[in-house]
Amino acid sequence: MNYNKKTVKDVEVAGKKVLLRCDFNVPMAKDGSGVITDDKRIRAALPTIQYLLAEGAAVIACSHMGKPKGEVKPELSLKPVAARLSELLGQEVIMAADVVGEDAMAKAAALKAGQVLLLENTRFEKGETKNDPELAKAMASMAEVYVSDAFGAVHRAHASTAGVADYLPAVSGFLIQKELDFIGGALANPKRPLVAILGGSKVSSKIGVINNLLEIADTVIIGGGMAYTFSAAQGGKIGNSLFEADWQDYANEMVAKAAAKGVKLLLPVDTVCGDKFGPDANTLTVEAGQIPDGWEGMDIGPKTVELYCAAVKDAGTVIWNGPMGVFEFPAFAAGTEAVAEALSKTDAITIIGGGDSAAAVQQLGYADKMTHISTGGGASLEFMEGKELPGVACLLDK
Ligand code: 3PG
Repeated sequence: MNYNKKTVKDVEVAGKKVLLRCDFNVPMAKDGSGVITDDKRIRAALPTIQYLLAEGAAVIACSHMGKPKGEVKPELSLKPVAARLSELLGQEVIMAADVVGEDAMAKAAALKAGQVLLLENTRFEKGETKNDPELAKAMASMAEVYVSDAFGAVHRAHASTAGVADYLPAVSGFLIQKELDFIGGALANPKRPLVAILGGSKVSSKIGVINNLLEIADTVIIGGGMAYTFSAAQGGKIGNSLFEADWQDYANEMVAKAAAKGVKLLLPVDTVCGDKFGPDANTLTVEAGQIPDGWEGMDIGPKTVELYCAAVKDAGTVIWNGPMGVFEFPAFAAGTEAVAEALSKTDAITIIGGGDSAAAVQQLGYADKMTHISTGGGASLEFMEGKELPGVACLLDK
């Protein structure tokens, strides 16, 4: 995939209406109060919005929220986002009552340079997730330029993330540009040695990433629940640990692939187990593959921590995706914490995939020590799998 895409700086936006796709899919309080519990994604869009306004553009922002499946669901309205965005920008954000209906069209037509309009949740339209050309055309008709800054949604080929680019000159905003530079750069031209740390509970959800990173990295480190499927595949005893029987052959194939390619594949050498899945479980540390019946592996052990942290110390680039254990329980957080700390201290370029690992790094207070923390969960995973991202592929090449 070509990551070298035109950005907002490569097009003339002064006096123009710009359709700006953001990822305002922010977490909301479960009580229906409309309170946004984390506004990181709204703040992440500010540099591009502020740039466009300063350049004299009129900004028509749009985003999805949740999965309303083509129905208008008031609890998934973007009104709370408009309110928060107004506060952050220090100016009114005009809210449209629909996406491409009468209200949106009239407000877009009346919009002046320096003003911001936010369309309603794009997924209130049935055509959005089907990438319906009629919807894409209608959205495009409001503007003269399309800017995408919705990195979290670039793995979706939807009308507002990809379809509109058929009808307008399409460029990236600063957020997408940053993600492409860091993740794309680490995949295409890494400072070596490139160390990939892959955790998380299931081999099945990380197959693409393991496979792709074995092509690129010098060292691949496996942690988290998926390590037990590797252990079982090699004849280890894993007690009640997470286990995907159908993925054992695949795990062995990955071990063989690493050997054939000369990639160092590091698996845990010891394990912290619990006698139940809970914060108050009793703990026991054993050699990998020696987990007694009735116990389950819930974190990497201290010898593994030493091994993994040594690999991080000597790295040129580290890509981390997925926790090493059940870090939400303090008794099983040491492995994830130690890896986060090692990343915070290394001179390597450190890139954290979105989702759980980003949350872990933030929760542990190391966020500002990392080179780049991705804003995309599924999007950063698919990026690391080497898949083409429709929301990036549709942008103009530089
Ligand atoms: C995300 O939260 O990962 C993005 O906003 C994409 O959302 P989706 O998985 O509903 O497409």
